[in-house]
Amino acid sequence: MEIRIEVEADIADVREVEEAAFPTKAEAALVDRLRADGSIVLSLVAVENGTIVGHVVFSRMESPTRSLGLGPVCVLASHRQKGVAAALIRKGLNLSKQEGWAIVFVLGDPTYYKRFGFDPDLAQRFTSPYAGPHLMALQLQPDASREGPAQYAPAFALLD
Ligand SMILES: CC(C)(COP(=O)(O)OP(=O)(O)OC[C@H]1O[C@@H](n2cnc3c(N)ncnc32)[C@H](O)[C@@H]1OP(=O)(O)O)[C@@H](O)C(=O)NCCC(=O)NCCS
Repeated sequence: MEIRIEVEADIADVREVEEAAFPTKAEAALVDRLRADGSIVLSLVAVENGTIVGHVVFSRMESPTRSLGLGPVCVLASHRQKGVAAALIRKGLNLSKQEGWAIVFVLGDPTYYKRFGFDPDLAQRFTSPYAGPHLMALQLQPDASREGPAQYAPAFALLD
């Protein structure tokens, strides 16, 4: 299995994976909107035998701290529980760190995301409409400012 940066020719297949992996088309529509708005900083695909089986997006957040929001992340049901999502997330975090991004936020299940170092306490230092136990943050740069507003890209506000 290969994890690589999405290219233009992947976009239709990525949409199919998003639609298949989630119960509704809301996340596929969210990814479309993030693309249209230019909010996507990093989009990675997991490829097995030439087929895209997973996808993750990191989008620019509105914050004085250089922050990214992780998600949506999805893997085809046929390829789950094999670490595909973890590989997508780890590669995305490594690339984000290399590119100088300071903090990555994620909204999800703490049991899953704590394994990557995501911390609800760090996220609580920021002001967010999603504040709560499911909002977590991971600091990538030692000198990152750890307070202030942190707002997901505008497309998230339209998510059902
Ligand atoms: C969540 C998802 C991306 C995990 O993909 P995966 O490749 O199976 O993940 P990994 O193999 O890296 O890790 C599997 C772990 O994820 C956990 N997991 C699966 N679905 C989960 C969910 N919705 N929330 C939290 N954890 C979940 C499993 O319990 C397993 O935990 P374990 O390692 O403690 O056993 C995949 O199940 C999926 O696409 N689900 C539908 C879309 C979705 O809900 N995405 C997340 C919200 S954006």
